[in-house]
Amino acid sequence: MRRTILLALVTTAWLGLGHLAHASVTGVCSNCHTMHNSQGGNGVVTGGGGPQSALLVTTCVGCHQGRNTSNSETPYVFDPNGPTYGTTGTETNTNTLAGGNFYWVSMGNDASGHNVQGIAGQDSRHGNTPPGGSALPAQLTCAGAYGCHGDRTILDQAKSIAGGHHNHQVSGWKSGASIEESYRFLLGIKGLESASYEYHPTTTDHNKYYGIDRSVETDTATGSISSLCAQCHGQFHDGSGEMVPSGSSFGSGIWLRHPTDFDMSRAVARRQEYEAYNGGTGTDNPYSVVSPVATADTTTNLNTTVFSQSDDAIVMCLSCHRAHGTPYDAILRWDYKSWPGGGYNGCAVCHTSKD
Ligand code: HEC
Ligand code: HEC
Ligand code: HEC
Ligand code: HEC
Ligand code: HEC
Repeated sequence: MRRTILLALVTTAWLGLGHLAHASVTGVCSNCHTMHNSQGGNGVVTGGGGPQSALLVTTCVGCHQGRNTSNSETPYVFDPNGPTYGTTGTETNTNTLAGGNFYWVSMGNDASGHNVQGIAGQDSRHGNTPPGGSALPAQLTCAGAYGCHGDRTILDQAKSIAGGHHNHQVSGWKSGASIEESYRFLLGIKGLESASYEYHPTTTDHNKYYGIDRSVETDTATGSISSLCAQCHGQFHDGSGEMVPSGSSFGSGIWLRHPTDFDMSRAVARRQEYEAYNGGTGTDNPYSVVSPVATADTTTNLNTTVFSQSDDAIVMCLSCHRAHGTPYDAILRWDYKSWPGGGYNGCAVCHTSKD
């Protein structure tokens, strides 16, 4: 009897916390926050740094480093002991997430990741200049004005993502309207988030990336995942005379740079090549986690098939790259440089007659 009452009380307390139960971060405040960064006269911040913004006990990198397992609560993007990536980062023995991992760039292979401050030194070849764009005033950071996450007009990293960790809901279409309503706190970017961050992704369990099937090369495709990359690597995505030669129109089959935010169903030349995407026939092809595509669909239905509705076969930067790092040059999802011979030809998921 007493047990039943206790259980009922616990249940009520749990339900009473309705909004918190949906919030992303849970647990004791002091796990993550320190009121004065002082305990018995000693600093609390891990690694011995001074007080952090938002009264945090460590930096973004401090919390987000470790090894992912099937029940980690924090998404780990940097595994200092060396994660298992496999051939494409999707095999069942891997322990990296959708963005890959910053490990290889931390070990000095500058080409294998974004050289984020606190993980790696400045890139020896690019400095702070993103290829296809203009130099940043300082080294890349996770968030804020010099980073990818959060409000890119705000310098302070924690301030730039303020509210994200507590107000974020894992489920639901992210409209881009606020930090917590943006795909992975990338302000303005839309999408649907895999609850496991693509730990062991499959055709039926993965992120849903938003894309736009453009008709002109100057369309910045606001809200698409590729438009995020374009904020720094602009010329690789849009701009007059950047994607197609002058006199040609976007989508006429003549390219200066590999198309992104372009739907494969509009391929002019060798269309059958793309209709065979990932072993399919041009209707309901299985989605590939090796070379994924974006979709213009903004519902919470997961895109497990491709060529099932209009604009669901959109080439994006992440069809070939990962955002954080991989073992391979140019942060590619697979080892393009060593193929053929070794490596892996992920291009063939789309260019099916080029394997
Ligand atoms: C698992 C880690 C974690 C726990 C536990 C946690 N927080 Fe936070 N909190 C964060 C992070 C990270 C930020 C800063 C970034 C952000 O706002 O998303 C933050 C930001 C905040 C902010 C400022 C932004 C906002 O959402 O208003 C407040 C206030 C706050 N936390 C209070 C609390 C309180 C009170 C508790 C305990 C009930 C708590 N936090 C527990 C991680 C945590
Ligand atoms: C005190 C620990 C802590 C700190 C500091 C922290 N995070 Fe997190 N972060 C977490 C945890 C825990 C989660 C997972 C929350 C969940 O989904 O349950 C998370 C989730 C995230 C996510 C995934 C959100 C999503 O859409 O699923 C992003 C992106 C992120 N953090 C970025 C950052 C950035 C950028 C910083 C630095 C400004 C930062 N974090 C600082 C603990 C932290
Ligand atoms: C905040 C600006 C910024 C954003 C947004 C950004 N990048 Fe970068 N990127 C850089 C900078 C700076 C470099 C050069 C320094 C480095 O590699 O760290 C770079 C380098 C790269 C490289 C070359 C790696 C090397 O070192 O040779 C690739 C590939 C890349 N980015 C892809 C992407 C993709 C894909 C996205 C979108 C998911 C993206 N970037 C978003 C700033 C950015
Ligand atoms: C997600 C699908 C996809 C992936 C992955 C992909 N491509 Fe493409 N590629 C396309 C589409 C669609 C076009 C445009 C075809 C058109 O306009 O007719 C294209 C165009 C090209 C072109 C221009 C020639 C032409 O037919 O217009 C080359 C060259 C090319 N891709 C090479 C590559 C290489 C190399 C890789 C791997 C590093 C790769 N692609 C990966 C879909 C893809
Ligand atoms: C079809 C596959 C594919 C797509 C789509 C793609 N890339 Fe690449 N990217 C590559 C390959 C392959 C390389 C390696 C160098 C090369 O072959 O040109 C590369 C190299 C890069 C580099 C390094 C350039 C340097 O000077 O070191 C950056 C930065 C980059 N890509 C950014 C992007 C961005 C941003 C997008 C989306 C707008 C994008 N890529 C879309 C395949 C792709």
